[in-house]
Amino acid sequence: MDTNLQHGMDIPQNLGSRARARFVSGLRSYVLNNMASELRQDYEANVEPKWLESEGAQPVNGWEVLKAIRGSEYFKQYSSLRCATQELVWDTVIDSVENNVDSLQENFAKFSADQSQAQGTLSLNPDLEIPRYADAVDVHLMPGNYGGVDAAIEPGAIYDHGLNVFAFGMMGKQLNDIGWSMANFFRLKFPDIQPQRIVDVGCTIGHNTVPWKQTFPDAEVHGIDIAAPCLSYAHARAQSMGISIHFHQGRAESLDFEDASVDVVFSSMLLHELPEDVIDAFFAEAFRVLKPGGVLINMELPPNDSLSPYDAFYLDWDCYYNNEPFYKAFRDQDYTELCATAGFDTERFFDFQAPRYTYMPEEQFIEEMNDELSFDQH
Ligand SMILES: C[S@@+](CC[C@H](N)C(=O)[O-])C[C@H]1O[C@@H](n2cnc3c(N)ncnc32)[C@H](O)[C@@H]1O
Repeated sequence: MDTNLQHGMDIPQNLGSRARARFVSGLRSYVLNNMASELRQDYEANVEPKWLESEGAQPVNGWEVLKAIRGSEYFKQYSSLRCATQELVWDTVIDSVENNVDSLQENFAKFSADQSQAQGTLSLNPDLEIPRYADAVDVHLMPGNYGGVDAAIEPGAIYDHGLNVFAFGMMGKQLNDIGWSMANFFRLKFPDIQPQRIVDVGCTIGHNTVPWKQTFPDAEVHGIDIAAPCLSYAHARAQSMGISIHFHQGRAESLDFEDASVDVVFSSMLLHELPEDVIDAFFAEAFRVLKPGGVLINMELPPNDSLSPYDAFYLDWDCYYNNEPFYKAFRDQDYTELCATAGFDTERFFDFQAPRYTYMPEEQFIEEMNDELSFDQH
């Protein structure tokens, strides 16, 4: 795994910080691959038969699998080690960021002031009320959350480097694979739409916003988030790459755009971090701001009803042990119904698993995309 990122807001890494990041990433990979596969084997060989014997039927959903498995020694070991490695992800990168605050601030000043390569903007709203759900817990065990404590940009750098370690470097050196995959899926699926305005909601550091501008250079691209330090970092990061994005501090539930003025509302890994009423309000806002024929496109985890009880349990793990309080509640919902409640035409609803654009030539992407696999077919 390369611990350096390819943009101007990267921080210098010494041998120690590289070694720590690689160790943590390797350990996480061991837990999520080797141990996870043994966890399933242990469940099938020991846990499920015992449950069947005592209950007279197999577990019918993720919750029952959790009840069956949580006393098992292997599950306890797996969960402890997974929690420890999650905490190590942040500990490791926080050290690197704290050791490089001066260089981070220097680059921030340089890139956010430089309009020669890109003409992006940043608008912060110090009066924005940060909802309690976004403040009360350190989501996915990330200390200080997205807003940090009195920090100007550090949480942005921590998220950037943390995500790289968390994903074993597999999101690319600009952590943009999701953005490229979704933007190109959209381009190929809707060739008749030439988007003029694209809005990424819950954009954090803009890593998946940038590829929308790269895919549709003539469009006006906006990134919205509640977390000021992440947005400030996002702005300098995009400017350093020469990509013009407009970042705004605001809430998904009240988008600052006129009715019918947006072609694409996009979100990535946002919905599972929101309470149900906020998702409803966000979808209603997306419906309001989209032009007729515009598209709301969300990259998310699959719904529980498309998964086996074991797989549902496996994904729900984050809800119980990784400070993701809304993870299960979101995935327990019917996604088509969520869209219908906001006013969207259910005839136009589609779900799909996008191939990874940065991992293959475009011809292969088109071929895989045309397989039209939906969540339910996996
Ligand atoms: C998991 S991160 C999203 C990551 C990013 N979109 C990606 O592709 O990796 C969730 C983001 O949603 C933001 N957020 C939470 N509640 C929000 C709200 N009501 N409106 C806008 N952004 C919100 C958080 O500050 C955080 O940056």
